[in-house]
Amino acid sequence: MNGLLAWLEQRTGLVSQTTDFLTEDVPGGPSYWYVFGSATIFCMILQIVTGIFLTFYYAPSTASAYESTKYIYDNVPLGWFVIGLHYWGATAMIALLFMHMLQTLLWGAYKAPRELMWVVGILMLVFTLVLGLTGYLLPWDMNAYFASQVAINIASSVPLVGTAVQQLLSGGPGMGTLTINRFFGLHVWGMPALLILLAVGHLVIFRHNGAAGPPADVDNKKLPQGRFWPDQLFMDALASFLVFVVIVLLAIFQPPLLDAKADPTQKFIAYPAWYFLALYGMLRIAGLTGNFVAIANLFATVLIPGALVTLLILLPWLDRNPSRRLARRPWILGLTALSVVAAVGLSIYSQLAIQQEQAEGKTTVANVAPQPMAAGGPKGGAAGSNIAGSGGAAAAGNGAQVFATNCSSCHGASGAGVPGAFPPLAGNPYVVGDPALVIHTVAYGLTGPVKVNGKTYNGSMPDWKGKLSDADIAAAITFIRSSWGNKATPVSAADVAKVPK
Ligand code: HEC
Repeated sequence: MNGLLAWLEQRTGLVSQTTDFLTEDVPGGPSYWYVFGSATIFCMILQIVTGIFLTFYYAPSTASAYESTKYIYDNVPLGWFVIGLHYWGATAMIALLFMHMLQTLLWGAYKAPRELMWVVGILMLVFTLVLGLTGYLLPWDMNAYFASQVAINIASSVPLVGTAVQQLLSGGPGMGTLTINRFFGLHVWGMPALLILLAVGHLVIFRHNGAAGPPADVDNKKLPQGRFWPDQLFMDALASFLVFVVIVLLAIFQPPLLDAKADPTQKFIAYPAWYFLALYGMLRIAGLTGNFVAIANLFATVLIPGALVTLLILLPWLDRNPSRRLARRPWILGLTALSVVAAVGLSIYSQLAIQQEQAEGKTTVANVAPQPMAAGGPKGGAAGSNIAGSGGAAAAGNGAQVFATNCSSCHGASGAGVPGAFPPLAGNPYVVGDPALVIHTVAYGLTGPVKVNGKTYNGSMPDWKGKLSDADIAAAITFIRSSWGNKATPVSAADVAKVPK
């Protein structure tokens, strides 16, 4: 055995490197405070192992993504369990990353000479969030589809590069097989490769600088020293084991569920992953700003998160206070506490708002379904007169159906449009403006550039006169004028007949 080790050492140096690594001093002694980083690495390994297993069955395309995911659930032995591990492993990894970052912030461990280690860590956090985002789409169920649509819309709202990013991510104006393929490529190859590279860099820098030690302004060498092996390693292993137990229990007792297959023509209120709830909360608040919604959206989705990441990256240079003692760093600790409170508050706000919307959404869908065509009928005037009453639901229901079959493929089920390609109808002043103009657009089509909320669209809107009855055109227009927060007068079939070409 010793002979073998000597042989290996002579050729690789691995034995002495491992000994060096294991006998590393831990200034101030080992501590459970230091386990978050190693537990994150444990989760990363779990994600890679379970992820590889999932790629054995998963097939990325609109025709097979959902079906193959369902196959893993239903037919692959323990497939549901592996999906559960992968799902909760992602949650654990991101939660532990946040804890690790928070601890580094509180301890002041980002300060010189560990600035680059901090920067690499922030980049790892960003790439891990991208991993979560891209993985969210892959099952191609209703929630995956609609939540990813929100994400792509956000990406496309970035000034200058937005349209290019949207094209790159979705591979066309709508979401389809190319979108799944691109998310898949990023999720199983691009991001993991980057992340592993950064993790190695993070550890190499760590080995170079040694552990930061407790938050005190003393020379680390003067502190009592603990040993990495076996003391700290035992704590790390115990923490990782406990994390694993929790993941297993969650995978068994709270397995992630698969919705119905993605169907763009349906209305669906998407639910983002918990780590994006705060961002989504800002987006919702931006949506309340009326005329300023475009600029508010830009702040909520691009400027504020972008500024936050930039600030975090620059933190070691912005925070010029040399002290690491907690009592001497009121500013950084105060700002950290404020950010945590804001993030938690926004997340709770958006969670409650989504729950409420889902509850309301269910009732409208239930109202619409059992009343096909009938009451709203060709007599558009009747629909108009009682749009606010119970009969209105039927009229809007008919309009909802006409919209779902004819319009939602371009303008989106929630009227959000597709940036750079199809204008939004929700929150669009033109849609709630002069009904004669809207009728003209829908009946006779529209080409040439149009400007909606500061963005220009230059496509071609089909003409519907002759393809749809006047009553259906009226119902669709009434629907788009009274949905998704739009509020405007209904339109009757007679109104449609009156508007000349
Ligand atoms: C093939 C895709 C497509 C379909 C289907 C479609 N639209 Fe459009 N729609 C467009 C495009 C593209 C524009 C912008 C035209 C332009 O740039 O001139 C547009 C513009 C509009 C506008 C004007 C928006 C503005 O601010 O100027 C309204 C209103 C509208 N569509 C309603 C509808 C309704 C109602 C339906 C279903 C009956 C529908 N659309 C179906 C692509 C589509």
